[in-house]
Amino acid sequence: MTDETIRAWRMDTRDQTLVLVSRDDALPECIYWGAPLPEDEDLETLASAAVMDVTGGMLDASPPLSLSPEARRSFPGQPGMMLRDGGGAIILPTFALRDVTTSDTINEGHPPVAGGGEAPARGGGRGMPGLPPGGTDGDVLRFTCEDARNALTYTATFTAHDDLITARATLTCGHPIHLDWLAAPVLPAPQLADEVIDVSGRWIGEFRLNRTPWTPGIHMRESRTGRSGHEHFPGLILPCRGTTNTQGQAFGLHYGWSGGHRMIAEELPDGRRQVQFGHAAQSETEPGTRFETAKIYLTHSTTGLNGIATAHQRHARDRIVTWPHPDRPRPVHYNCWEAVYFNHDLAELKDIASRAAALGAERFVLDDGWFGRRDDDTTSLGDWVIDPRKYPGGLTPLIDHVKAEGMGFGIWFEPEMVNRDSDLARAHPDWILGPADQIPGRQQFVLNIALPEVREYLYNHIAAVLSAHDVDYVKWDHNRVLPAPDAAQTRGTYALFDRLRADFPHVELESCASGGGRIDFGILKRTARVWLSDSNDALERLRIQHDAALFLPMAVTGSHVGPRQCHTSGRVLDIRFRAWVAAQRHMGFEMDPRELTEDEARVLQEVTAWWKANRGWMCRGDILRLDSADPSVIAEQQLSRDGARFVVFAGEAETSAQIAPRPLRLTGLDAGARYRMHLANRADAVGLSRGDPALKSGDIEVSGQYLMQHGLTLPWAFPQSMWVIEGTRL
Ligand code: DGJ
Repeated sequence: MTDETIRAWRMDTRDQTLVLVSRDDALPECIYWGAPLPEDEDLETLASAAVMDVTGGMLDASPPLSLSPEARRSFPGQPGMMLRDGGGAIILPTFALRDVTTSDTINEGHPPVAGGGEAPARGGGRGMPGLPPGGTDGDVLRFTCEDARNALTYTATFTAHDDLITARATLTCGHPIHLDWLAAPVLPAPQLADEVIDVSGRWIGEFRLNRTPWTPGIHMRESRTGRSGHEHFPGLILPCRGTTNTQGQAFGLHYGWSGGHRMIAEELPDGRRQVQFGHAAQSETEPGTRFETAKIYLTHSTTGLNGIATAHQRHARDRIVTWPHPDRPRPVHYNCWEAVYFNHDLAELKDIASRAAALGAERFVLDDGWFGRRDDDTTSLGDWVIDPRKYPGGLTPLIDHVKAEGMGFGIWFEPEMVNRDSDLARAHPDWILGPADQIPGRQQFVLNIALPEVREYLYNHIAAVLSAHDVDYVKWDHNRVLPAPDAAQTRGTYALFDRLRADFPHVELESCASGGGRIDFGILKRTARVWLSDSNDALERLRIQHDAALFLPMAVTGSHVGPRQCHTSGRVLDIRFRAWVAAQRHMGFEMDPRELTEDEARVLQEVTAWWKANRGWMCRGDILRLDSADPSVIAEQQLSRDGARFVVFAGEAETSAQIAPRPLRLTGLDAGARYRMHLANRADAVGLSRGDPALKSGDIEVSGQYLMQHGLTLPWAFPQSMWVIEGTRL
């Protein structure tokens, strides 16, 4: 035993406890992250118990894996910050703990902790109605640490919410310094774990889960494109050994920043593991005196990956998104992009709008092509003025028609971008971000939105369209990467979003970046929908939305019924499959309705009617990913918050290896309760299904225990089809 001074703190939520310890007033370290500890756990004993032994080849004590590991203490891994002074010389700080602020001390008169809690879900009228009242938001723990020699102050702030813990770090300096890297508060990763799950992807192939074995050294993922990125979604899941979707222990981290991030999962030579998240390295391009990370969202589950997924889903929906019309159901979208692209003709668009309304659409979205002289993607970005050639009477005649059909009207912008062939670029070539000889992307360049005059220009033009028309939704696109990572660009974008949202609070914003290139909790603070992918191929989408459900709730995830022959894959898919896949999320259509046969239109109407009848509880429920015994079946269960009803979507993605379907086990039910199970689309059974599973001919009533232990026996189905099974608790 040493005579060091130990101070310890804990933070608790329903699903997790963090224990943080400072030894001899050093920068605190997290010594426990996991399932809730008993209230009377002695934290000082834990602090002593957690000390690792040392042996030959080691220092005489282990350098702490603190909230910001310090290189100057011989930390044998990646440090939590990398700094240089004004002349470029490396600064190696060592911090001492100076102040600890807790919710109690705040209540006793400390100033409120900046950036502490998310805004409350209810009370401001912004949350979805019909959800249980919010709970413990706001327990705050903030550590302030100083390095007097270098005039540095580091703070780490933790906030407890109902479903998760958020944390962020700030760094200030008495004089300007260069920041190369600043990690949000650093946490230890589990030891009884063999792999990490992170997320890669690409255009029309977002949210690909990668399982990488833990090995000594660094596993790093970095998005250096100035967006959260198709390629590197800023999330990491740390499953413990044996964890599946429905059982076992797991930890989750998500970095809520839209400008690109760096993630490090590192196993140290002594076996400890650390996880770091921060802005992409060197994205602070100017010296400064104050830097801040985005929030990191920390989750823990003992109910498999689904515990992580539902914590993210609920937090995003109930604590992050501001719903412009919380009392209105999520409207069925119609988006005209894949119907007409840039060929806007008023008469045709009116006809399409009428047909979309007849199918069940409730919001008509005019996509790219309505402004400047935008006949293709070589021109006019930046010239946000209605094209008089296409709309001689302005947009009002189209909007009036859309309204007369009972739909809301939405419109597309790509504010941060400019074509060289535009009045804007001709007038302000200096507003283009990056070098003159940079490679264009989709013939376009990025505006330097960190400049106030650029934001002013964009605000004025977008506000002019929104003020003059009855618009209830904007699809905000971002179709190329930045020339280099630049945090000021993201802050400028956020500022423009925030100003428009403040002045047009009734307008719903959607984040699109060639599909899912900018999805994260930072953008969801400003938007209420994400365009998950440019792939309207239902087969691709089934997989993408299944994996995205680890982070995203149903209500924000756009999903559209695409053309019969998919424009991005060439696949021809049956309307039933296309419609049910879209009905799993925020439903919409994005094909030319003039291509639909009578049968296709009828199916679409029926599935849309089903979606409308169920969206109320589905939008407030949880998406639970099922453990499918058959790898060709991608299945999920959407469960209402009160557990009284659910729907299972069992997608037959490909032909199964075995000849008959394997039973599908459900999850999250009351083992002792009885449930009525109803195959909603039993009419879709094909002739090759010759047997007689009970669900094919009628409803069954069985226990939750049976459904979770044995599972549902479904009829045989074609590949690329979907079974939809409704469950009601009796
Ligand atoms: C990319 C988006 O992802 C598409 O949905 C569409 O809006 C086009 N941009 C328009 O240019």
